[in-house]
Amino acid sequence: MHAGTATASVAAAALLGAGTLLLSGTTADAPGRDAGAADRPVAAAGVRTVSDGSGPRTDDPLVIAHRGASAYAPENTLAAVDKADDLGFDWVENDVQLSRDGVPVVVHDTSLKRTTDAEEIFPDRAPWAVKDFTAAEIARLDAGSWFGPGHAGARVPTLQQYLVRIGRNHQNLLLEIKSPEVYPGIEQATLRVLRQEGWLDREHVRSRLVIQSFGAGSVRKVHEQHPDVITGFLGAPAVAALPSYAEFTDQINPAYASVTSAYVAAVHALKGPHDKRLQVSAWTVDDAEHAVRMAGYGVDGIITNAPDVVREATD
Ligand code: G3P
Ligand code: CA
Repeated sequence: MHAGTATASVAAAALLGAGTLLLSGTTADAPGRDAGAADRPVAAAGVRTVSDGSGPRTDDPLVIAHRGASAYAPENTLAAVDKADDLGFDWVENDVQLSRDGVPVVVHDTSLKRTTDAEEIFPDRAPWAVKDFTAAEIARLDAGSWFGPGHAGARVPTLQQYLVRIGRNHQNLLLEIKSPEVYPGIEQATLRVLRQEGWLDREHVRSRLVIQSFGAGSVRKVHEQHPDVITGFLGAPAVAALPSYAEFTDQINPAYASVTSAYVAAVHALKGPHDKRLQVSAWTVDDAEHAVRMAGYGVDGIITNAPDVVREATD
């Protein structure tokens, strides 16, 4: 762990060991019971508050490197998490999807077109959907050249490869199950790899891993399949709906534009499935002004492509 991560570690302890946060959007339906309305992210408003049952605190928000330090290296690659490590950040966010043969791979878009050379390597495979390519085919792709010539040859990592690398870096993981409606069984497949790589042991589950999704149903599945895991819902449910989210999620993680101090307070007023206060991490904040604003609102975490910028602004 880098020296610069001390603050983040304190906040991480608050975020994970202590709490559970949720933000809710506009639906008042019980979330997570179907793949429809309840799964859609909702607009939010927010407030920040750090809570672990010990009362309000003044900790800086935990800074989480979005898709790795993706302002400086190609997103969701090993280079991006290494860059976050180099900058001193021990929390990284990533996105996981399934290949055609069911292998969890780390990539954001449901198409490989934007961040790889799939169009060039497989010209007759439009629209280059991740779900249509085997893991072996995905492994052939260049996931770095689009970002810059210095990153040519970077690969789309499997989740297994990704976990090995961040484990080696002593980093922690905010893992997003991306587009779960496209990948039946992705929760089980993801948990299987996490277990195989030692990420479901007591230490990791208590303080080193959070699984989040825009799909409330997916978050609920993770909670039901492994109740010890800390979970997060991406979106901002209506305040009235928050208690139903608190049945299965520990965090409510909204787009920063939806966050207000009142919303953060509303989230913090609830306890999640682990009997800790719900927490809030806002995304994607890449400038000092908004980082300071989010910190002032009391968010527990800030998810950012440029973690160094956010750290400097909020320290
Ligand atoms: O972690 C929050 C953020 O990653 C959600 O949005 O589209 O960047 O995956 P997206
Ligand atoms: Ca994500």
